[in-house]
Order: sequence, then structure tokens, then C-alpha cells
Amino acid sequence: MLAGALAFGLHVSAEPVVVSTPRTSLVLDATEGQELKQLYFGDRLSDADLAVLGAAGGAARAAYPVYGSHFCQGETALAVAHTDGNLSLDLAVTGVDVKADGDATLTTVSLKDKVYPLYVDVCYKAYNGVDIIETWTEINHDERGTVTLNQFASGYLPIRRGTVWLSSLYGAWANEAQVLQEPLEPGMKVIKNKDGLRNSHTAHAEVMFSLDGRPQENAGAVIGAALCYSGNFKLRIDTDESDYHHFFAGINEENSAYRLRRGETFRTPVLALTYSNEGLSGASRNFHKWGRKYRLMHGDRERMILLNSWEGVYFNIEQEGMDQMMQDIASMGGELFVMDDGWFGAKYQRNTDNAALGDWTVDTRKLPEGIGGLLRDAKKHGVKFGIWIEPEATNTLSELYEKHPDWIINAPGREPVTGRGGTQLMLDLGNPEVQDFVFGIVDDLMTEYPDIAYIKWDANMGIQSHGSAYLTKDNQSHLYIDYHRGFEQVCRRIRAKYPDLVIQACASGGGRANWGVLPYFDEFWVSDNTDALQRIYMQWGTSYFFPAIAMASHIGSNPNHQTFRDIPIKYRIDVAMSGRLGMEIQPKNMTDEEKALCRKAIAEYKQIRPVVQFGDLYRLVSPYDKLGVASLMYVTEAKDRAVFYWWKTETFVNQHLPRVKMAGLDPAKRYRVRELNRIDNKPLPFEGQAFTGAFLMANGLEIPYTHDVDYHKLNSYASRVLCLEAME
Ligand code: DGJ
Repeated sequence: MLAGALAFGLHVSAEPVVVSTPRTSLVLDATEGQELKQLYFGDRLSDADLAVLGAAGGAARAAYPVYGSHFCQGETALAVAHTDGNLSLDLAVTGVDVKADGDATLTTVSLKDKVYPLYVDVCYKAYNGVDIIETWTEINHDERGTVTLNQFASGYLPIRRGTVWLSSLYGAWANEAQVLQEPLEPGMKVIKNKDGLRNSHTAHAEVMFSLDGRPQENAGAVIGAALCYSGNFKLRIDTDESDYHHFFAGINEENSAYRLRRGETFRTPVLALTYSNEGLSGASRNFHKWGRKYRLMHGDRERMILLNSWEGVYFNIEQEGMDQMMQDIASMGGELFVMDDGWFGAKYQRNTDNAALGDWTVDTRKLPEGIGGLLRDAKKHGVKFGIWIEPEATNTLSELYEKHPDWIINAPGREPVTGRGGTQLMLDLGNPEVQDFVFGIVDDLMTEYPDIAYIKWDANMGIQSHGSAYLTKDNQSHLYIDYHRGFEQVCRRIRAKYPDLVIQACASGGGRANWGVLPYFDEFWVSDNTDALQRIYMQWGTSYFFPAIAMASHIGSNPNHQTFRDIPIKYRIDVAMSGRLGMEIQPKNMTDEEKALCRKAIAEYKQIRPVVQFGDLYRLVSPYDKLGVASLMYVTEAKDRAVFYWWKTETFVNQHLPRVKMAGLDPAKRYRVRELNRIDNKPLPFEGQAFTGAFLMANGLEIPYTHDVDYHKLNSYASRVLCLEAME
């Protein structure tokens, strides 16, 4: 018995433990009484190769390195202070348990300290149909008193040195998910977040390692890793004097030492690992498939096409304006209208960002007929209705804060530190009373207005002052961790009661693009920046780890409200249509021609929606390569339909743009090509023609440099969306 290695059940064995997905194997040495070792992670091994794996050479590495007995010099995953002050750990295997867990196999390797009653389960959940292995640990002890966890990574991976390149995402507000690709050099690379809440603005908790040199999209071996956590995280890659890069991922332990009580279990967040020999795009497809099937709320449901009121009216919410916007989106074929910030507040009005968070009663000065009136209007126009809330926050100018000043996060004995608007404060979600309040915001809305179909859940401040009136003085370092436990607890309650509600995770734009929140949320707002050109770069990076179905991508105004750039409607549409399409605009300021184009685009998006939202992504030409063009495509699993996107990203006269080769098609099938959102006076030469997948992947189609439009309509932008349909 090899490739399956251990059969289900409890084992103490000298045989390797093989954790397998359809195309990958992770091999462990879990010999009883010894340190747990990792022997291999990569392409799925045959029985023959597995039998001689040990002879292939290369040192076995600790699978979960711990601090203090045999190892003090390098980076570790776990470091504790025992109740007697001893700082050392020495963990040995006591058993292995293998069992079925839904569509996956769960392998748990149990470890115990050789001297102390301290236990660690290292868990691996390998999916039967998707190439993802989730790993995490569960730590507990039976020592008299409290053990302090000083470091508690979810997982560790040794990556053989060679020519390994790292791809990671960095950014800032309105410029999220920028791709950084760099060779791994000696020294420490740390990717971290300490905002407290918005953990994907400045860096992301997901990375990819290209093992064969410079990253390629559709070739080469790639390891992908995504920490599924909504709070502060830390990824470390230590390239020391050994043959390995040492990758650790987990909760950021800084100012978060955890005091673990006797009998309590500390479960680290899931670290999702993948391996692909189909390049970065291959690793992305693995994450997307797993995400849609197992991790994203409603990953199998098509998303509605919506209009959000924010950039259209900002805080100037009023009944007639909302009615007009609903009518406009309905007339363009949209399916949902979302009323953003500004609709609430009684004693304090929400006319700007400095008041009323926490006072979730409708402002009847703006909306005399309340939410009921809006729902009635939505029904009249045949669209669904959604609403914005920011439930984790309050303002100093609010009735909530007047009533519960002790509910906020702030260092004890210090003046409140405020955020947005100079008055914002975050609620202390570690406090069960606050959890009840936050749950109640959604529950009250949904109980009174069960027709609300969508909630945009925003969060516009981090944790700026460390302190909780709820936590004991000894446990103040639990603030960040308890916040996210509280947050998850609330999310779980909401989902138990409102399983069908669509909820967007927004956090000052793309601050909550992580796999920690997505089990409860349907999508996230990629960025507050709706500039289509800049969005290409942000959505490109975001697509490394997240599927298009989760990426809210809206047609914005002209000039754009963040960059003040003029971008024609055609280009704005073509970019927004590569994600979950929506609009973020004042329709009454649009020309009839623009509205007509949007109407057509929405109708066409409905046709390609299943391909975009459930298809396999192939990134073709990266905007970061500065070749003047960016291109990607989605292909159905059956390879019978595909949508190809091409966006010009620069304009210079006599510039030579590359011809883009497609990917992911069936070489033997013939695909008929149809251009969507066409604005040209004449169809493209290949319109309606059928080409083999082989030709399209080896050669590609020659996309004209610009659009064939009347002289006064010429501009520097060009983009194309092509729909490919396999012929019977
Ligand atoms: C920040 C969000 O990212 C925006 O989309 C908008 O909802 C505002 N907050 C509202 O205050």
C-alpha cells in the first residue's frame, strides 16, 4: 500500500503518509516518537516513485518547526512559554488519523511534547476533486495554568532553492492588488498586515512561488499559498544557508501573544496550498475552483448585474433620486439597485462621513417613505434592492456611542483615537454584547424588510488604539484575534438565519479580499478606484487568487472620480465585463448613446455570464509586462465556450503590439468568433468565422490597433471582447 499510503483509521506507522489530490502529492514521514517531517510536495507521485522517494536524496525537513530544543537559530512555526516559564518545545509524533471529510480526506498527525503535556495536531485536508490541500494546526495542553503562544503559524513549507521567484500582491487604498514578482534572495522576506481589519489593502495573505525561474502564466511549476484569515497576518520567507526557502504563514503574532488555558484548543486559520505545472494561471484555476466550490458563499450562483448609488449621489440620498436610479438601471437591463451610504441617522444625520454610524434607523428627512417605499419602487421597476451598512463601526457623533462608550476599541484610560471623518470608532467585536448588536443590525433589517436581496457590508477604519474594556488586563493581547473570532461568530449567525442573502465585503474598497471572509460573503469590492485602466492592473493581481465571480467590477463615471481620467464608455464596459459586472455612475448624466451601449453590454454579459463567472481563467498577456496590451480569457470546463478580452494599455504611434495567442481551448474544436460590445463601423475580418482551437492557441487573431469609428469619435483607447463558441 503506497500511493494511497495510509488507509482510513488511526495509525502509528513507519510508512510515509501521503496526502493526495488528483494531481498532487504531499508526503510526510510521521514515524512515532520522531519529529514530523515533510519529504515531498509536487506533482502526484506514482507508487513506483514513492517507493524510492527516500533514495532521491535531499534532507527531510521538519513539517512544523518549533522553537527551543533542537532548533533555535532559524525561523519557527510555533513558540510558546510553558506555565513554568520554559521556552522550549520538542514535539514527537504520537499517531496519524486518516478519515473522509465530505469531498476530502482529512489527515491529522498528532504530536506531543516529549516532556510537557502540550499537544499539537497538524491537519491536512486534501480535496478529492480539486488540487488544494488545506493545512492548519490545533494546539492544546494539560499544563497547570496558562501557556503563552508567542508564535503560532498555520503552516510551513520548505521550498527547494534553485531559481525560485515569488509573486505577491501589494498596494494601497485605490491601488490594491499590484503584482510584484521577484527572485527569492538570501535573507528574510516578510509580507504582513497590521491594520486589524482591512488586511488586503497594502499586502495580501496569498503568494505564488514559480519554481523554474521567471514566472510564466501558462507554463512552469508553481506552488500557491493562501492564508484564509480576515485579520492581521504574517507571511515569512526565510532564505538561510540551507538548500531551502522556508515559507511560514499565519496570524501575525505581533502584540497578539495568546494565553491558552488548560483544555482550550487554539485552532490556527487554514493555509490553502496548491501546486500546478501549468504556470501561475494553473495555480489560479486551482484556487478559483476550490473557492467557488468550497469557500465562497454561493459560489455556484450567477451574480446579479447592479447599479450602486455611491459615485452617483454620494451622501445625497433621497427618495426621488433613488427611484430615478432604479428606473435607469432597470431600463438598461440591470437586476439590482444598491443604496450606498447616507440613508440613516435620526438625532445625528449622515450627510458626510463624520456621524451616525451605529444609528441604523432610516433618515426620514431624506426618505419619507422609508425602506418600505424603496422596496416598493424597486418592485415597480422590476429590480431587486440592496442596502449599505457599516456594522462594525460607530462615530463619536452617534446615539450608539452616547449610550455605549465602552463598546469601542481603544486603549484603556486614553482619549478615543478616531478614524474616518475625524469621528469614526470601531466596535469591540470580541465583546458578545457587541456581537449581538452587530448581528441585530442585519437581523432587524431583514426581519422588517425580508425583500432586501443584497447587503454591502463596509468597514472603513482599522484598529488604531490597542485596548478593550471587555478583555481582562491579562488578555489585552487577545484583542486582534478575539475581534476576528467575534466577526466570524456574527457572520455564522447571519448565514444560519439568512442563507440566501447576497453580501458584499467592502473595506474602504479592496480591504477585505481574503479567503477568511469569503465563506460568508458572495463577493468583494476590488477597489474604490473605478478607473478602467488602473482596474486592469488591480483585477489582474486579484485574479491570481480570486475568481471573477467574486470580483465586483463596475462601470464608473467620466471623468473618473479617482484619477480624473477620461476613458470612453466602451473601454469602461469592456473592463468591467471581465468581473462581476455592475455600474457605479449617475445614469442621468449619461448620454443616450452611452446608455444604449450599456444596455447592449448588459444583455451580452447575461449571455457570457456563466463563462466569466464559472469558467477557467487563462491570463495571456500581463499589463505589468508593459507590452502595450493586456489580455485574458475564460473557458468553460467543457471547452465549448470562451470569452477573450483584449485591452490596449498604452498608445504610441507605430507601436508594435504582440499578437495574442489564446489558451485553454480544445485544439480539435472549431470556434466561431463573435465580437461583443462592437462600436466599429465595420465588423472585424474574423467576425462569424470559425477557427480551430489549435490555430487560436498557436497563432491567435490579429486585433486591430484602434477602432474603426467616425473621425470625431477617435480616441486613444481600444479594447475588444470576443465570444468563442464551439461548433457542433
Ligand atoms: C467606502 C467604500 O469603499 C465605498 O464604496 C463607499 O461605500 C463608501 N465607503 C461609503 O462611505
